[in-house]
Amino acid sequence: MPADPVTGPEGTPPETAHKANGSGAPRSEADAAGESGAKTAWLPPTKPSGGINPLRAFLAMPIDSTPRTLITAVGLCFICSIFVSAAAVVLKPLQLENKRLDRQQNILEVSGLMYPGADVEYVFDHRVTPRVVALETGRFTDAIDPASFDQRVAARDPARSIDLADDADPASIGRRANHAVVYLVENDEGRVERVILPVHGYGLWSTLYGFLAVAPDGDRILGLKFYEHAETPGLGGEVDNPKWRAMWHDKELFGDDGEIRVAVEKGDQSSDPYAVDALSGATLTSRGVHNLLRFWASEDGFGPFLENLPQELSDNG
Ligand SMILES: Cc1cc2nc3c(=O)[nH]c(=O)nc-3n(C[C@H](O)[C@H](O)[C@H](O)COP(=O)(O)O)c2cc1C
Repeated sequence: MPADPVTGPEGTPPETAHKANGSGAPRSEADAAGESGAKTAWLPPTKPSGGINPLRAFLAMPIDSTPRTLITAVGLCFICSIFVSAAAVVLKPLQLENKRLDRQQNILEVSGLMYPGADVEYVFDHRVTPRVVALETGRFTDAIDPASFDQRVAARDPARSIDLADDADPASIGRRANHAVVYLVENDEGRVERVILPVHGYGLWSTLYGFLAVAPDGDRILGLKFYEHAETPGLGGEVDNPKWRAMWHDKELFGDDGEIRVAVEKGDQSSDPYAVDALSGATLTSRGVHNLLRFWASEDGFGPFLENLPQELSDNG
């Protein structure tokens, strides 16, 4: 086996490699210095042609040296970042597909159409029609494709959203997109039996995103479901509790005078047509839900659309 120019025959330490290779000549200046007993700085081994071989130089470094540790750490980070980036790119389409299915499932749940084993895509395609609403006029528009419209992205674009003044922003959302995608849910006879509105607003720790189901009269609530938030499990997270969610069924958004009356208030509200009991130990999240519902029922939210809803449904039915 030919002698390795750095380590000598397999496993031979650099200090003795030149002796072991039988040539009798030291291989490098460092070795020469070592042989004469003089203490000099470590020098990278050279290729036979005279150039520096980085891999051999790295392998020749003492295993616990600072440069070797640093190079190993940086190299590992680099390799891991390549794996993570590749996984993110490869899995992106799958993530988007899962997100779409999750959205559909949440819409079916708040529509009362979700049951164990349901084919989410099939039920959604046959019973739910997404439509874009221009929030200012409260009318449906076909100018925007509901499949490609992203309300969160639009809300960040000044050209496609409005800035909300503090006193007009009880939900603390800052900006509101000019359009929203709503979902018309049909019964077996093909008549729209509920309309699903996307709502969001700030709780205690996070923005809560959810769907509010209303009857075709635009007043009666049929369901409320949050699909994304970071409130504390067991406290604010109880917005997901089916018992609390069930309390929203048949509550009304507006009083007879047209004023917004929907509310979240402490105490038993079972006989109140507009209010639901606040979550215990989660007054701030409850207040957030109260505020966001009142915002989305207002002029700046779905107010105009809810007023037009019976007419819009008969025109577009
Ligand atoms: C660790 C921790 C997490 C909390 N999470 C929430 C929460 O998610 N939502 C909320 O309204 N209050 C939360 N609270 C409680 C609030 O700080 C506040 O005390 C509560 O909203 C008051 O509600 P109460 O009047 O019903 O007791 C949390 C408190 C602690 C210490």
